[in-house]
Amino acid sequence: MTGKLDGRRIVITGAASGMGRAIAVLFSQEGAALALLDRNEEGVKAVAASLSARAYGCDVADRQMVNQVVEAAGMELAGLDGVINAAGILDITPFGDLDPDSWDRMIGVNLNGPFNVTKAALPFLRQADQATIVTIASVSALMPMPGTTGYSASKAGAAMFTKCLAMDLGPNIRANSICPGVIKTEMTRFLWENPEHTARATERVALKRLGETEDVARAALFFSTEDSGFTTGTELPVDGGFSWR
Ligand SMILES: NC(=O)c1ccc[n+]([C@@H]2O[C@H](COP(=O)([O-])OP(=O)(O)OC[C@H]3O[C@@H](n4cnc5c(N)ncnc54)[C@H](O)[C@@H]3O)[C@@H](O)[C@H]2O)c1
Repeated sequence: MTGKLDGRRIVITGAASGMGRAIAVLFSQEGAALALLDRNEEGVKAVAASLSARAYGCDVADRQMVNQVVEAAGMELAGLDGVINAAGILDITPFGDLDPDSWDRMIGVNLNGPFNVTKAALPFLRQADQATIVTIASVSALMPMPGTTGYSASKAGAAMFTKCLAMDLGPNIRANSICPGVIKTEMTRFLWENPEHTARATERVALKRLGETEDVARAALFFSTEDSGFTTGTELPVDGGFSWR
């Protein structure tokens, strides 16, 4: 690896699993000092132990808890240069059947979560030379899909939240979103474990495969280094060519 993140201190949410974990692995290989947050405390501690990173059990929807944890992380790392908002939840249910509590939870985790974490990290990010914020949104932020009123609204909100951060926090803080298509993680296990669903999902994308967590981790690396130094307020689909049609 190339040490692209040497000297950078980065908070990653949702780091016990899937994309958050893959981002933690790649960022650690690239030399970053990491604070990993997840509501799955045991899981995030296991990931952190293998990377010599710091781990915190934390529900990103709980503002008070986030404030305490992010402050502790910033103090332990003696500052923060970046945030990755990867924690998220998904409920695919047609609107007529969608439980209002589930709507509240998706907004709480997928939209309020990035707000809570970014707000708590801001005093540290402002002290950094060139800080970066990356939000894992979704192709659901870009296009309607059946049964995703809550998820898509939360992700479109998170993407626009991130775009507005770019306006408010430049020039020293950049903020970008990644919009993954179907990536093979726990969240989509119900889909990729079913050969019929997998065939349908791969057939409709130009690159004829489902995404791997590493596909997203490399995009997060791009947005967290000077390789993307003139890029802010964007939404990058990492979807094999899913969202253009
Ligand atoms: N997998 C996909 O196809 C896909 C596509 C587009 C976007 N996304 C988004 O990517 C992000 C990562 O998802 P993934 O696919 O890696 O899923 P995943 O389920 O493997 O990982 C999500 C992680 O977030 C954590 N988490 C959930 N709620 C939390 C909370 N309230 N506080 C702290 N941590 C919490 C979970 O414990 C888990 O470790 C999510 O925001 C998801 O919405 C996923």
